[in-house]
Amino acid sequence: MIVCSCNAIRDSEVRSAARRGCPCPDSAYRSLGCQMQCGSCRDYATEIIDEERALLLAVQSRAA
Ligand code: FES
Repeated sequence: MIVCSCNAIRDSEVRSAARRGCPCPDSAYRSLGCQMQCGSCRDYATEIIDEERALLLAVQSRAA
């Protein structure tokens, strides 16, 4: 599913960026060679990143 229509960024790409350590949409988009443009995707991209980082933390705390 497309998260950002300006950059044609998919949710899977945003999730991967979050797993690589990108904490926000700006950072995630930069890691994908893009940048925020109109900003209408910011809230949804933030939600996806927060969700992915929470999952990652849960997995890491279970492994510790
Ligand atoms: S929809 Fe993502 S910057 Fe416009």
